[in-house]
Amino acid sequence: MYNTFKNEVHEGLSSNPKSLPSKYFYDKKGDALFVEIMNLPEYYLTRSELNIFQHKTQELIDAIEVEPDSYFELIELGAGDGTKTKELLHELDEQNYNFDYFPIDISSNALELLKQDLSTEIPNLNVQTQQGDYFEVLASLKNSKKPKVVLFLGSNIGNMNDERAAKFIYNLGANLQPGDKVLLGVDLIKARDIVLPAYNDKQGITAKFNLNLLDRMNKELGADFNLNQFEHQPEYDESEGIAKSFIVSTVNQTVEIEATNNSYSFTKGEKIHTEISRKYNDQLIKKIIANTDFSLQTKILDSKAYFADYILKIN
Ligand code: AVJ
Repeated sequence: MYNTFKNEVHEGLSSNPKSLPSKYFYDKKGDALFVEIMNLPEYYLTRSELNIFQHKTQELIDAIEVEPDSYFELIELGAGDGTKTKELLHELDEQNYNFDYFPIDISSNALELLKQDLSTEIPNLNVQTQQGDYFEVLASLKNSKKPKVVLFLGSNIGNMNDERAAKFIYNLGANLQPGDKVLLGVDLIKARDIVLPAYNDKQGITAKFNLNLLDRMNKELGADFNLNQFEHQPEYDESEGIAKSFIVSTVNQTVEIEATNNSYSFTKGEKIHTEISRKYNDQLIKKIIANTDFSLQTKILDSKAYFADYILKIN
């Protein structure tokens, strides 16, 4: 982990334009800031998908085409605190569906809390947690030939560019069997005055989340970023449908990083690209699954049509 972090930081800060991988947002402080983001009035994504899980639960169940008496595995990539999924789990449980729940997350802490929480909320549900990077965990899915429904929610796929997203979905498909389903939750392309505030909230929580990356490099790599000389800068181009986050240097400055044994110069106004949050439409989803074993079954929207859960099926 340390070596990969160090190498990726060096590579990103030595490039022109500079960039850093968004996966490094999520240390302990970053996790907590993301929880705050999900509760922000401007951050509509989580509430929109929760709206689907609360009010279109039966549509979701119908779409995944499971039978109450035939067993299936319900797998969730990046389960987090499971707030949305619990709506579905409760309903499946009430209707006596025969399934086990396999939440996968990078955070063992999150998994422990989720398991604890579910043991009291849905006591007869069998929960088997798996800690790991979901890219790695994918292969282990193959070990069981049981019918599967895979949840990949929260527009987490949006942090990948389209090429990587297509590869990821291809890979996922290669580890599943005909008839298996994926429930892919994505944010939809919409107006700039709705999207941009979600990444530029009034309270400055998203700014803290973005700049925490500098703090993390200070703590873990012995860097000397002065957080007062960098600013959060989000952008969104509606025709492209991609929200982008940058960290901008507000002065000419040089930063040293002990771990890489290098220094990095920034000019005033120079940007580090830290994140993409892709927004989707049918055409983009079709493109992403074009060379995979999946076909697009249906999609389920929230009441404002801000967010979509696409149901993909292995042919
Ligand atoms: C967790 C990737 C869905 O891109 O909207 C929130 C992360 N970044 N605010 C997103 C995030 C800034 C989030 N995802």
